[in-house]
Amino acid sequence: MTWRATILTLFPEMFPGPLGVSLSGKALASGIWALKAHDIRASATDRHRSVDDTPAGGGPGMVLRADILAAAIDAANVPDDPPRLLMSPRGRPLTQSRVRELATGPGALVVCGRFEGVDQRVIEARRLEEVSIGDYVLSGGELAAMALIDACVRLLPGVMGRPESGTDESFSEALLEYPQYTRPQSFEGRPIPEILISGDHAKVAAWRRAEAEALTRARRPDLWTQQKPPNDTTKG
Ligand code: ADE
Repeated sequence: MTWRATILTLFPEMFPGPLGVSLSGKALASGIWALKAHDIRASATDRHRSVDDTPAGGGPGMVLRADILAAAIDAANVPDDPPRLLMSPRGRPLTQSRVRELATGPGALVVCGRFEGVDQRVIEARRLEEVSIGDYVLSGGELAAMALIDACVRLLPGVMGRPESGTDESFSEALLEYPQYTRPQSFEGRPIPEILISGDHAKVAAWRRAEAEALTRARRPDLWTQQKPPNDTTKG
């Protein structure tokens, strides 16, 4: 079954953008997944096609209207009732495990926020799950939606060459990736670590594990403290 990404945005022309090339682009062309970008403005009702208004209570910026966004969601009429996401810096941080869940389902409806925000009532009434891709603020949800969709699409069956490349990597085990090397054997006086050309697979695996652990401790202490303690082989 085709995994369906339905996007609601004020800038449908941004899509597929980078999702139309490389791995995801090939998978899109071959029908493994499908993308439809709807223009929220098509649901505007007034002469000026306005979609936003000033915030109740005052303050800077503009707020996306609840009635317009609700109408756009309803008009998209997505089959199979997929999760409805709203890309927003105040959302729950996106994780690889949420990506895995989404990739296993029928697809996702993704609302791209713009302006200062979205009227809270439509978030509640259409049960939108707010999702953030990191603690920084983009000018809109479109790039965030693309990141989320890319992360899902690469996990779909038939998208990646070797299925294990989807699991044996950063975050699947809450460890960062060990360093990689390829030819030439010496680059600007830096040789490839000797152990990697020793042909000793057990030693290579142990070296990679140690490098991944050291990197995770140094760069991501938050991930490191989530590590499962290693099996205790000294007892029993
Ligand atoms: N929109 C703006 N910034 C965002 C972020 N960090 N994550 C998701 N959506 C966003």
